[in-house]
Amino acid sequence: MDLQQARKRVSELTAQLNEHNHRYYVLAQPSISDYEYDMLMEELIGLEADFPELLDPNSPSQRVGGEVTRKFPVVKHKYPMMSLGNTYSKEEIEDFDQRIRKAIGDDFEYVCELKFDGVAIGITYRNRAMLRAVTRGDGTQGDEVTTNIKTIRSLPLTLPKEGLPDEFEVRGEVFLPHKSFLKINKEKAAHEEEPFANPRNAAAGSLKMQDSALVARRGLDCFIYGLFSEEPAFATHYESLQALRERGFKVSEFIKRCSTLEEVFLYIETMEQLRPELPFDIDGVVIKVNNYMQQEELGYTAKSPRWAIAYKFKAERVATRLLDVIYQVGRTGAVTPVAVLKPVAVAGTTVKRASLYNADRMAELDLHKLDEVFVEKGGDIIPKIVGVNGAVRPANAHKIEFASHCPECGAELVRVEGEAAHYCPNSEHCPPQILGKIEHFISRKAMDVETLGQGRIEILMSNKLVRNFADLYDLQYKQLLGLEKTLTDPVTQKTKKISFREKTVENILNALEQSKQVPFERVLFALGIRLLGETMARKLARHFGNIDALMNAGFEELNGIHEVGEKMAQSILDYFNDPEHQEIIERLKKAGLQFSTEKDAPTGNGKLEGSTLVVSGVFSKYSRDEIKAQIEKHGGKVTGSVSSKTTFLVAGENMGPEKRKKAEELGVMIISEEELESIINQ
Ligand code: IVH
Repeated sequence: MDLQQARKRVSELTAQLNEHNHRYYVLAQPSISDYEYDMLMEELIGLEADFPELLDPNSPSQRVGGEVTRKFPVVKHKYPMMSLGNTYSKEEIEDFDQRIRKAIGDDFEYVCELKFDGVAIGITYRNRAMLRAVTRGDGTQGDEVTTNIKTIRSLPLTLPKEGLPDEFEVRGEVFLPHKSFLKINKEKAAHEEEPFANPRNAAAGSLKMQDSALVARRGLDCFIYGLFSEEPAFATHYESLQALRERGFKVSEFIKRCSTLEEVFLYIETMEQLRPELPFDIDGVVIKVNNYMQQEELGYTAKSPRWAIAYKFKAERVATRLLDVIYQVGRTGAVTPVAVLKPVAVAGTTVKRASLYNADRMAELDLHKLDEVFVEKGGDIIPKIVGVNGAVRPANAHKIEFASHCPECGAELVRVEGEAAHYCPNSEHCPPQILGKIEHFISRKAMDVETLGQGRIEILMSNKLVRNFADLYDLQYKQLLGLEKTLTDPVTQKTKKISFREKTVENILNALEQSKQVPFERVLFALGIRLLGETMARKLARHFGNIDALMNAGFEELNGIHEVGEKMAQSILDYFNDPEHQEIIERLKKAGLQFSTEKDAPTGNGKLEGSTLVVSGVFSKYSRDEIKAQIEKHGGKVTGSVSSKTTFLVAGENMGPEKRKKAEELGVMIISEEELESIINQ
């Protein structure tokens, strides 16, 4: 393909991908399968790699992220980002309405909108392409987070020819849909990290991540609620929003023009009722005067416009009694205290339990058994205890201390210095942890034996047929047929009957048989080694080629591999040093699972073949990880510390003095990043 043909194809693919993006993320009406979409994207990425001159910064390929921003530049807002006057009462809305009528008379209308609970963003478009995106900051200036914002698929990167000014800014709210929020917190829990308290914090945290590829995976979204340009493009706010929607922006469908206060109140009530069903958080509604000239006439106070007001929903708060605190043990062994409450209705559902997060939170609340506690179901999805009514504490109430032993297996709990969570250290024999390990083992991205499902594993465990995942491969048809049990969900108290009929048993045994073909990288991931995710498992599988080579690797070798940090290296070592794990692996090998794969061949020029390099310090041109990746690509080996086997020490700024001293003592050559580059490019 020559350049001209490539240009034509890139432009076709760009148009198609933009169209499919809009259909999927804005209209929720996809017309092709995910697979077909991925194929188009792959073709575009391939062409852009072959013809770098065709890579447009607003190409749909840029959505997947990849660029790393070390420090977000501070940018001054062209139009200050003001805040809104807040109210919780209808009387104050009546006052607001009176003030407006006094200033501009009765001939006007309002636009009512949802007040999204996320992070404000201002996005400038110039010549029909996204130029920059800036956070609110202090209202006058904010952080430029364009690369991260480009990963939000519901935001257009380029615009159609007609209908909007050459340069304009849209304002909107970046948010995390509940589904994405729950997924992130689940992943955080699996990595033993502190979960985000609510979707807003998670959205704010995601926007400030340095690696845009990680932001792309978070699933952020953005509603647009405002348009700014030098010359107003439309007469009213409502028209602006319609125009933006028609040109591909995601504008909420719950926008309503109201000409009376009654209509405004009806909108508020309707939205308050709708709130629990929305797939994202809102914390109120915003009421704006529609006409731009009337907005100008009303003007601004120092902080907020006089033509708009936010009515905030009260987080519904109710009092109830704390009956007990129980402890849930997760798949990773993290122990979460859960309050058992006298059932009470909050925001449309009956609440019987509330998370207490951790020991610090419990101590802060100074919880006593039988206390009257206040429960809130506000912006957060999970009900929480926000306070204790100390004044009515019963005389016999006694303070609740955090559990000292695991409620499931009796092991003494541990708490790592500086961490909020308590853990049950009995990872191999504590039932929920075993269950968690098996669930992970059979999950879709691991061995993909999901026909076994959670309820079924519990039955196998309670019948003592399965104690670890190696036991799965010893299961026999006869043992399984006819097993059954009624399971009760501990939180909802719902029951379901699970039984192993002929077809089920056949399906399970077939799926287990098929799982023996699952490639090594997924088997490695399935083992559930702490901190070892899917991507790193793939990398290690390809690096070592087989399980024995990986099991024989020492700390230095592991730590030297690009992206394997000290904690992960230690976790891998600990895992394989455990005789129980060694036995499980032996049994899995005997069962016929895949424990080897093709090793990665370096695709570079091999200039560093046979060399061992140590990389230390901070570099100006590349990140340390990029340098390590380059070394490995060209056949070199990276290790963590300098020894007589080291060929080069690649030194950046602020390199550890110990490393330099050792290199000098051993006569190891110290080189800069530029020198490394010229060795590779020689
Ligand atoms: S208009 C000058 N409309 O609420 C008025 N703001 O204090 C600018 N927000 O952080 C705001 N939904 O990000 C407007 N439909 C909506 C909104 C909205 C959420 C946020 C906004 C800002 C805060 C205002």
